[in-house]
Amino acid sequence: MDKFIIQGGRRLRGEVAVSGAKNATLPIMAACLLADGDCRLLGAPDVTDVRHLSVLLEELGVEVRREEEGLCLRVINRENSHARYDLVRKMRASVCVLGPLLAARGCARVAMPGGCAIGPRPIDIHLRGLEALGAEIDLKSGDIIVKAKRLKGAEIFLGGPFGSTVTGTANIMMAATLAEGRTVIECAACEPEIVDLANFLNAMGARITGAGAPRMTIEGVDNLQGITHRVIPDRIEAGTFMIAAAITNGEVKISGARLDHMMAVVDKLRQIGVIIEADDGGAIVSSRRGITPSDVTTQPYPGFPTDLQAQLMALLCLAGGNSIVTEKIYPDRFMHISEMARMGANIRKEGPTALVLGAGRLVGAPVMAGDLRASAALVLAGLAAEGTTTISRVYHIDRGYERIEEKLAALGADIKRISEKE
Ligand code: EPZ
Repeated sequence: MDKFIIQGGRRLRGEVAVSGAKNATLPIMAACLLADGDCRLLGAPDVTDVRHLSVLLEELGVEVRREEEGLCLRVINRENSHARYDLVRKMRASVCVLGPLLAARGCARVAMPGGCAIGPRPIDIHLRGLEALGAEIDLKSGDIIVKAKRLKGAEIFLGGPFGSTVTGTANIMMAATLAEGRTVIECAACEPEIVDLANFLNAMGARITGAGAPRMTIEGVDNLQGITHRVIPDRIEAGTFMIAAAITNGEVKISGARLDHMMAVVDKLRQIGVIIEADDGGAIVSSRRGITPSDVTTQPYPGFPTDLQAQLMALLCLAGGNSIVTEKIYPDRFMHISEMARMGANIRKEGPTALVLGAGRLVGAPVMAGDLRASAALVLAGLAAEGTTTISRVYHIDRGYERIEEKLAALGADIKRISEKE
């Protein structure tokens, strides 16, 4: 297993390009199960989650090739519709194959994804939506088995105790594209990744309106054709690099960032003293004065994204005063607190809220990555800490960031990847 060694205290300067969005690429890859012909996904990032889904799709009869510009996917046989547990458990978003398999083949068997470090990851809303479209659902030795001769359009509510569901909305959208008649989804997720998926499906011949708003309508069609599509830039990677610039008091141009996808993030960072200037097709980020304490609550899009909560917390550790961070999407998503405490952070968790007592400084230490975004937060803390930080189990980071250490080193960070003996 690899680890990172970071010497803190270097100000980041220069320009970094944002990769394609992992969370747009994954459902769009699943949507290729619906297509006749080749689908080309330009800008699909080469991260572990994408590689894991590629392995699963190959088992489901899809040929997946990595090309210069991205991925090329083509359905070559429809024999196997069973997504096995040992593949699904490695990457929860594999559950996105459920809707397209059901719509394209009339059946699917997909292992229940189980939980992960950020909390239980139920799929009850996904299943309620598929049932509303006429699917028969069974649970057998940990697998979900769904069947339907032809799905029928329906009015479906996708709200749950934490708002809508992103991959649940993706699943129902994809299933509804080939259903008979009209489907209306109420309380659909509004994330830019959902809009990107809808644009991809419409380019294939689907008839989806209202994507990006809580009410979405899908008119069923008979078939969908393979197309070429460029996935949107990764707003979470862009936000991570904005915070990297701010936490090191640097000045970084983040090219390819879609600020219109990041208004809550830009608003919060500006509030706490980060300078963010729009610059042709991206943003220039710096912070010349101290970080002001703040309070932030994670919410469904367009609210502040839960996937940047840990990274912002790392920055708030340097604020001159106390901040409050409330996690409304995954109330247990605070794995990073104990590791940051090893670096001198003083954070107290009270249920879904964390009180960040601005220590004003962080000190390097050996720490362990626990989940994708918590690990990114530890990298950010290491960049700002005095001395050396060693982060083990960086495979967590490789799930969602393309060669993050190379991108940071190109900005002047002193960060090295070394392979740990097993
Ligand atoms: C997507 O996960 C993202 N993953 C997550 O990013 C992101 O944190 C999350 O949306 C929220 O924005 C991908 O897009 C691949 P949800 P998803 O279904 O779809 C509850 C990352 O770091 N819920 O929107 O799995 C659920 O427990 C990852 O890139 C139900 O109760 O999240 C959670 O509390 C981590 N029942 C809330 O809803 C359901 O059937 C939001 O979950 C489904 C979800």
